[in-house]
Amino acid sequence: MDWLSVTENAAKCQRNWTDEPVKEEDIELIIKACTNMPTRKNIIDYELFAFTDKEHIKHIFSIAQDDLDFSLSNRAKYHNGQMMAPLVLIWGRTDIVDQYLISDYTEGYADNENTNNDREVDYRSPEQDGTSVTTQSMHVGISSSAAAIVAQSLGYQTGFCGCVLNDEMLLFLKQFSNNVKEFSVALGVGKGRPGVPRNYVFENDEHVYTNSVFGRKTITTYRI
Ligand SMILES: Cc1cc2nc3c(=O)[nH]c(=O)nc-3n(C[C@H](O)[C@H](O)[C@H](O)COP(=O)(O)O)c2cc1C
Repeated sequence: MDWLSVTENAAKCQRNWTDEPVKEEDIELIIKACTNMPTRKNIIDYELFAFTDKEHIKHIFSIAQDDLDFSLSNRAKYHNGQMMAPLVLIWGRTDIVDQYLISDYTEGYADNENTNNDREVDYRSPEQDGTSVTTQSMHVGISSSAAAIVAQSLGYQTGFCGCVLNDEMLLFLKQFSNNVKEFSVALGVGKGRPGVPRNYVFENDEHVYTNSVFGRKTITTYRI
C-alpha cells in the first residue's frame, strides 16, 4: 500500500460523488477499525452513526452549513458537498464514561477481551473522570482519522465536515440515540465523480457550487 498517497488523499476533501454504494463489508471494516482506536484510559465518550439511507443523507447535507454561513445570504448556496456521500459517518459526543477495566492482563490483549466476563463497567461523568472536551475531541480525531485512512486504502474518497447547524444536527442525531450530547465531526465516504474536480458540489446532478481548495501544508517537524 502506498501510505503516503493514502494520507495525502485523506487530507483532501471530496465534495461530489457517484451513486456507487460503499460495499457492506467495507462499511463494517471501516467501522470496526475506527472504533478500535485508543481512548484515554479506554473510556467511551463518543458514539458513531453510519448513514447510508439517502433521505437521511439528504437531510444531513441540508444542515451541513455552519450558522454563520447560513446567516449570510450571499453564501446561501454554500454547502458541504462531502455530506452527500453514499456513506456518511458522524461522531457524536456522549457524557457516558464507560470503561473496560481488565483485571487479568497478560500480554497484548487481555484474556477476557471481547467478553463481558470480569468486565467492570464504571459510569462516571466526564467531570468526575477529569475528562475534558479536548480529550474527547482527541478520541474522535483519532477514530475519524483511522476511518479516513482505512476508507482511502480501500479505494474510496473521503471528506471531513465540522461545520453544521449544531442544534439541528443534535436534534437529528437524537432520533437515534438518547446518549448523544453534541455533534463532533462527520466524514463522507464514497467514489468521487470521475473527471470532476473534487471541489465541485452537485445537487440533483447540477453543479451548484465550487469550493476553494488548499495546497499541501507543511507541519514543522523536529528530528532529534
Ligand atoms: C476536523 C475537520 C473539519 C472539517 N470541516 C470542514 C467543513 O466544515 N467544511 C469544509 O468545507 N471543509 C471541512 N474540512 C475539510 C478541510 O477543509 C480540508 O480537508 C482541507 O481544506 C484540505 O482539502 P481541500 O484542498 O480538498 O480543500 C474539515 C476537515 C477536518 C479535518
